[in-house]
Order: sequence, then structure tokens, then C-alpha cells
Amino acid sequence: MNTPMHNQALSDGPIGQPVDRIDGRLKVTGRATYAYEQNEMGPVAYGYILGATIARGRIDEIDVRQAERAPGVLYVMTYRNAPPQPAFGPPLTATPAEVFTRARPVLATDRIRYYDEPVALVVAMTFEAARSTASLIRVRYTAERGDHDLTSRLSEAYTPTRTNAGLQTDSAVGDFDTAFKAAPVMIDATYYTPYQSHNPMEPHASIACWAGEDLTLYTSAQTLANFRGGLANTLGIPQERIRVVSPYVGGGFGSKLIIHPDAVLATYAARVLQQPVKVALTRQQMYANAGHRAAMQHHVRLGADSTGKLLAMGYDVWSATSRFEEFCEQTAVFARSLYAAPNRLTRHRLVPVDLNRGEWMRSPGEAPGMLAFESAMDELAERLNQDPIAVRALNEPEIDPERGVPFATRSLVACMRTGAERFGWSNRNPVPGRVREGRKLIGMGMAAAIRPNYLGPSRAQVSMSPTGRVLVRLDMTDIGTGTYTILTQVAAQSLGVPMSTVQVQLGDSRFPQTAGSGGSWGAASAGSAVEAACQGLKQQIIQAAGVPYSDGQAQFAGGRIIANGRSERLTDLMMRAAPKGLQAEGGVGPMGDSYKNYSQHSNGAHFVEVSVDMDTAEIRMRRMLSVIAAGRVLNPKTARSQILGGMTWGIGAALMEQTLLDTRHGHFINHDLAEYLIPVNGDIADMDVVFIEEADEKANVLGIKGLGELGVCGAGAAVANAVYNATGIRVREFPISIDKLLPALAARDW
Ligand code: MOS
Repeated sequence: MNTPMHNQALSDGPIGQPVDRIDGRLKVTGRATYAYEQNEMGPVAYGYILGATIARGRIDEIDVRQAERAPGVLYVMTYRNAPPQPAFGPPLTATPAEVFTRARPVLATDRIRYYDEPVALVVAMTFEAARSTASLIRVRYTAERGDHDLTSRLSEAYTPTRTNAGLQTDSAVGDFDTAFKAAPVMIDATYYTPYQSHNPMEPHASIACWAGEDLTLYTSAQTLANFRGGLANTLGIPQERIRVVSPYVGGGFGSKLIIHPDAVLATYAARVLQQPVKVALTRQQMYANAGHRAAMQHHVRLGADSTGKLLAMGYDVWSATSRFEEFCEQTAVFARSLYAAPNRLTRHRLVPVDLNRGEWMRSPGEAPGMLAFESAMDELAERLNQDPIAVRALNEPEIDPERGVPFATRSLVACMRTGAERFGWSNRNPVPGRVREGRKLIGMGMAAAIRPNYLGPSRAQVSMSPTGRVLVRLDMTDIGTGTYTILTQVAAQSLGVPMSTVQVQLGDSRFPQTAGSGGSWGAASAGSAVEAACQGLKQQIIQAAGVPYSDGQAQFAGGRIIANGRSERLTDLMMRAAPKGLQAEGGVGPMGDSYKNYSQHSNGAHFVEVSVDMDTAEIRMRRMLSVIAAGRVLNPKTARSQILGGMTWGIGAALMEQTLLDTRHGHFINHDLAEYLIPVNGDIADMDVVFIEEADEKANVLGIKGLGELGVCGAGAAVANAVYNATGIRVREFPISIDKLLPALAARDW
């Protein structure tokens, strides 16, 4: 099935072409410089963080005398000698902008709020000296009983003021309770999704350098503006004094949207020592100190008539949240736009635990939400004795069912039908447990995908040199998604020049500010900004060119300007009319009227075939296909990679991924990549992606919609539904690990 259907290019230029990664060669030859490897600042000192061994309580005594005398040690920082810092502030979910940039003090008090919270930073001449010296610090704590369980404490749940992204916690249409009770066909199911950890390949790392009152922070960031703002608020200095540099990022998955202790502590230590200091979180430290996805309980209730039409749809989510900084994942929000039903109810509730804050992680909301909800839709289809695609298509809404506005574009049914045909869905036996190959049970499952489309304020600068070289600059990041490549395509296309003449520079806060990489808004936001800047540059070129180019409809193509039947090479034009070069800035604003007047989402459908061993319950992926409709596809190669990654995380969420919390101690137990399981090549089998062509002119000037996180939305449910179709066993506690499947499987008389 490895036959990618490349999107037909919507134009003759580079946009829509499967261009190789511009930064690929640098990366595979080790020449792309990541945060911890930056060396232009000269000799650095190394910091190592010591973490707390209790989850809640206070430090009674911290003895650093022996550590301070250890060889090579330059400085030991604890709450007693750390710089004064602002109070943490209230735990409640602030507005999105406040959340991203709020002060996040570290080593500020003797209070311990979560296990492995930093209690000291040791700075030494070498990393090894810093780490070994940390073991010489003696800490005595008064531990308090922490609360760590979610499911036994739902009665303590409270309603936050809003969910992540400023969305409403609750929604209600019609009368859910009455309609659900009266529905002839009902599904009432509770699912559990576990804590998860982002696990980017590159750990969180920062090098801080001060020059007088000016700070340069080399770090690994998704959004530079958030790091600037967060550091400025934590340090109490103007953000104009802070430069953040992050040209290459080894993955983020949401864990690098805001500052973490590496950035704050490197900054403090470098100021005290008047020397550059680098601090990285170890892989183990990342689990407690770089965010996680919270554990959740999902209660899905679906009521339908006998034909399968939904009469009532209810979705309640309880999520764990930190006591000191609230995070309410918008888990049920997608369900407000997915299927038609006259009576609807969605609610989010939080249960406080003594853990670090939860953070945005790979499709916040939809990833855990669609895992549960699209499993419930599969349960409904089976109860109705109907095909899962038919039930979904029957409940396809004509307009957004809760907002009452039209969809800008919506290709969900087309995705499902295309996928069904290409995957051979008609071969699926709807009766579970019937298809066998030897001692293997074979099953097929599908699920729908939906994800909101976002746009964030972003600006870019584009210049053309006298020799026709194009330089594009913006503080956008490339977190492995292909940003360098697609922005090169956008600029080359807009200016009608070869890609080889375009250089894109990212990851420096000296460049115009963007919304960064997050929420799958990167391509749309940064791409629109580059397009706007190119439009500005073309106006300047036209003005400089003079008549006849300035009094006609000038076109830019083939490295030439064309108007009124005349044309001139841009290189000649620049030498003639702009020997010092030209430069323009442009940008895109926040989401405007088209977001108010239209429901903007991307869609998809996932198809999975698995085998399950009757005797061992070993689940193997056999085939997976995702059909994706996400507006215009800038680059089918990088887009396909994004979707493949999302599908892989979907497999992980269904079958493997979980951060296990020891609820006695509040400690994440499996805090390394040996014990935190994610799918590797051997686990994913044959995968394919098909794009359905769309151009969404409501979304932005380029007609593109976010797709990075769409691949994970619903992907896990398709796997879970395939496991059900193979076995007839529904595991509602994710991941579907062997220990959960085997008892029920062994009880069957195969
Ligand atoms: Mo993404 S979880 O919004 O970086």
C-alpha cells in the first residue's frame, strides 16, 4: 500500500511539490546545532538540577557545605540564595496569553509541590562534577500526604473557569437527560486515558549568557515569544533585554511551548557567576519537570433511534490537574462540532493532584478525547448492527451543530468513503472474532478525525539583495515539522524565483515575532506572514522597476518581472534600480471574522487492520491508512511525514503509551525510554496516507489548514476498534496492554 497519492499541485510553482527537507543534510551530518551544542559564547559552566524526593511538604534543612567544597564546583543554588522572584500567582487558568508567559519561579521557596521539583542547582566546571556533587547535598524534608489518585476522587472535582485555549468548560443544547433516557438505543461507557509524557528526542536544554543587562538564551523552544515573555516575567526585566535563539529543535510535542527549570536556572546561575551556564534536564527529569498529559476519565453517553440517528450526545471528562497551576485540556470540545444530535452536553471537570502542571501535548483535547469518543461511536454502530462509517455519515451535520455557523470546508464523509475504498473496508467481517489465520485473530477498525484550525499573529521580513538572493527572517521555529522547507517554497512561489535563491532563517527573537510552532498553526501563520512580506517586497520591486512595470499588472515568474508585454530579470532589475537591495515586512493578524462566521476544522479518517494472538494477546499492527483533508497541502512529503508521525502516536496511545504514577509517592515510575513504551518501526507495519484536495480560502491567504496534529486525532480509536473487531473484547482503559486483554481472551473458548 505504499503508494502515496501526491496532492495535485494547485499551481506551477514550488507549492504543492514534494520538496526534500532543506535542513535534512545538515541534520543527518550533525551540523544542525541544537541548544546544548551551541558554542559561540566560549567556555561555559555546567549546571545540574537536584530534585525533591517527596511530592508534597517542605524543606526543613538543606546542607550544601560539602557540595560547595567539592572539586570543580563554582556555585550551589538553593531557595536560600536564589534571586528574589515574583510569587507564582493563582492556580486558575488565566487567559491563553497569560498562561504562556506567566512568571514560573524556580527554587523560590522551601515548599515542595511535586516529586522531583528542583531543590538545588549545582554549577561546576564539568557536567560530571556538577552531577556527582549534587549527591553530596543533604536535604531533610517534612513530607505531607499528597493526593495522587484521580478515579477515586471524582467527588472532589471542580469546574474550572475555562479550558485550555480559553474555551467554555460546558456546553448544552436541548435537553440531554430526557432525550438520552428516552432513546431506543444507548451507549453509556466510561473510558480511562493515562498520564502521558511528551518525550521529544532532544531534552530541554538552555545556555544563558549575560552581557551587562542583556540576556541571550540558547534553548530548545517551540515559541520564542513565550520564552521571552516567561523569562521577562520571572526575572522581572523588560523582554527587550532578552534574546532567545533556537534554530533547530529536536521535537517538542507541546512540551517546549513555555519555559521550564533549565531556562530559569541557567539564567540565574549565569548572572551570579558572570559566565555562560548551560543546564539540561536529564531524560528522567523531563517526566516531572517538562509537563505531561494528565490522566482522564471519560464518560460518553450516546442515544440513538433505531436507524442510527443520534438523539442525544453527552461527554463528561474528569482530568487531573496540578494544585498550583491549573491545566484543563479541552478534551470534549471537538465533540461539539463532530456529529449532529439535537440534544447535547459536554463538560470538563478537574481533580487536583500534587503533581507538576499538565501541559499541551500532541493534539491537546482531541488525542485523548477522540480515543474515547470514537471508541464509543464504534460501540454504538455495533449495538445498532450497522457499519461504523454508515452511522457516522448518517449523523453528518449540515452546519456546526453547537455554534450554528457553516463549516468553512468539511470533507469528513469524503475521507471515510475514500478510505473505505482504498483500504478494502468491504472485506471487514462486522461480527467480531470471526476472521482467523491460524492462532491469530484478524480485525479491522476505523475512526473519524477532526481538529480545529488556528491562526496566530505572525510577522516576517523578506529582503532581496542586488544579486537577487532572497533572505526570509522570522522568529518561527522548525521543531522537525519541515518549516524551513515550506517557508522556502512559499517565498519562492510568491516571488517567482528558484528555491535555491531563497534562504530562510528562523529561531532568533531578533527576527519578527510569530506564533511559533504549536497547535498545528505554524504553517498557516508563518506561511501567511511570509506571503504578506513577499507581497510587500514585490510592491517595492515594482516601484523600483518603474514604467512599464509599475503601471500594469506585474507578474513574478521564472526569476523575472513581467508586465505590459515586457519582462526583465530580477537580478538585472535590482542592479539597475535597487543596488542596495530591498526589504519588506508583512504579517497576519489574529483569527478574525472568518473564524467567527465559519467553523474551521480539518478532517480525516483512519483505517487499521490488526492481528491478535489468541494465546498471548500480542497485538500486531498489519496495515494502517489515514485519509486527510486539511486544506491545501504545501508539501506532500513533509505533510505525509507529519501524518505518519501522528498515526504512530495514535498507535502508541492505543497500545503502549502511559506514564505510570505511583500514587503512594506521587512519582512517575517508568521515567525513561526503556520503560515508557512508544511504537518503533517494528510496531507500526504498513502505513499509508492519502490527502484529499481542498483549498480553504476562509482559513488564510494560502488556503492551508493545520495538519500536524490531525494525524493523531482518532488514530488510536481506529486501532482500538480493530482490536475489538478481532477479539470481541472492549478494553476501555488505555493503553490496551496485554495484561488487560489476556484474561478476557483466555476465558474464551476459541
Ligand atoms: Mo502542540 S501540543 O500545541 O505544541
